[in-house]
Amino acid sequence: MNMCAAPISADDRDRWVAVCTRDRLAAQQIVCATVAGVGVLIIRDGENFLACERACPHEQADLSRGHIADGRLHCPHHRASFSLTTGEVSAGWPSRPLRRFRVRLDDVQVWIDIQASEQG
Ligand code: FES
Repeated sequence: MNMCAAPISADDRDRWVAVCTRDRLAAQQIVCATVAGVGVLIIRDGENFLACERACPHEQADLSRGHIADGRLHCPHHRASFSLTTGEVSAGWPSRPLRRFRVRLDDVQVWIDIQASEQG
């Protein structure tokens, strides 16, 4: 999945933003954060960590109220789902893919690259 475990260098800190602690993500499967005015979710799915936009691309429901099953994030409103790997929406929905962000971990923090989103 879109995750890197390399440490964050001083130069990287302009681009990578610390969004939560690893302990918090260990206790909570979905963590909400706002980075540069953008609502994001940091998600733990088994051993994988990822980040994505918080607003559903279909009609902007709050995806933090959804659930994760079978590698997909399920929207609580109309129940479309999005692949955590590719962002692809489930069949039949007129929606762009879920916008995702690169994730890095250090010993304490979870970081995301808010500048470089990944689309489908
Ligand atoms: S708002 Fe998420 S599926 Fe419609």
